[in-house]
Amino acid sequence: MALVDQLALESDLSDSALCQLLDYLDHPDQDQDGRVRHHLIQKAHQKRMEIYGNRVFLRGLIEISNYCKRNCVYCGIRAGNPGAERYRLTLEQVLESCRIGYELGYRTFVMQGGEDHAHTDAFLTGLIHEIRTAYPDCAITLSLGERSRESYQALYNAGADRYLLRHETADDGFYAGFHPGMALSVRKACLEDLKAIGYQVGAGFMVGLPGQSNQHLVKDLRFLKTLDPHMIGIGPFIPHHETPLADQPSGSVEKTVVLLAILRLMIPKVLLPATTALGSLNPVGRELGIRAGANVVMPNLSPLEVREKYDLYDGKICTGDEAAECRQCIQKRIENAGFTVDMARGDHPDWRN
Ligand code: 5AD
Ligand code: FES
Repeated sequence: MALVDQLALESDLSDSALCQLLDYLDHPDQDQDGRVRHHLIQKAHQKRMEIYGNRVFLRGLIEISNYCKRNCVYCGIRAGNPGAERYRLTLEQVLESCRIGYELGYRTFVMQGGEDHAHTDAFLTGLIHEIRTAYPDCAITLSLGERSRESYQALYNAGADRYLLRHETADDGFYAGFHPGMALSVRKACLEDLKAIGYQVGAGFMVGLPGQSNQHLVKDLRFLKTLDPHMIGIGPFIPHHETPLADQPSGSVEKTVVLLAILRLMIPKVLLPATTALGSLNPVGRELGIRAGANVVMPNLSPLEVREKYDLYDGKICTGDEAAECRQCIQKRIENAGFTVDMARGDHPDWRN
């Protein structure tokens, strides 16, 4: 209880205190009737109400390609999965998704994809330029993995505003085990580049990766506290049947919710999505996240015919729903949970524009 109160007062907890809190919350029997957990979620909710009120921002997610040169062990669209049916949206298809999204009220478009060789700077700057011209009032968010500083700069100059690049896990050795041929130091350098260029930056991690300990999670929290990103995306690990982690158990919804609440208290102004993975493991997972301090949802705007192919993990929700259906569905869910939808761009409160 005292640790939660300390967090809520924005005094930074030590790593060992954070670990102690996570350890404690892992044992519901110890936490009488979930008192500490409940208190933590209440405090996170209060903090969110102070800063953002009861509004939840919506972002339209367009999954532009599932080609990927990487081999992240957990991911269904890894290069090493021959079972993945590959697709790449054309410029026209992306623009059509934006048009539909704009009509549905979206003012942020998130372009997400694997690390696709065909996504040259020339292609992407052309695409960004078209969207920027057609929708000058919208935020353009990219989530396209690791690129050079020059490339990030070119995309920014073309009109991109934000970039999401989860660090996935902040422990070097643990990171290396899940990302063959990659290094956490490179990932961190990308995040620093993005920040220096002037993007609103999102980082984040997965909860419940096989072998993950609370010490690993404390490293994630510490890394994020130091990076101080504008957005943080976290979600439970969910196995994909065609990956080496097919037989591993999923991460826990409860633990993800606890971590959302801790992040809301540690980095109060951060934009914090209730992610699709959370909603995929539990039918009301996103609502649980929103009640614990999350204030963003990213409904799917991708063309229906590619939805099932952007197959990162098994049981992903919304693969059979038109953009308009997701828009309505999510609004109902948010309102039923006692919150309201905000369709504005929803920049970070300290954003300079
Ligand atoms: N389970 C949960 N999340 C996953 N991601 C990728 N694969 C999985 C999985 N099997 C997440 C990664 C990535 C984001 C787009 O999706 O964190 O950054
Ligand atoms: Fe897509 Fe509910 S948000 S169907």
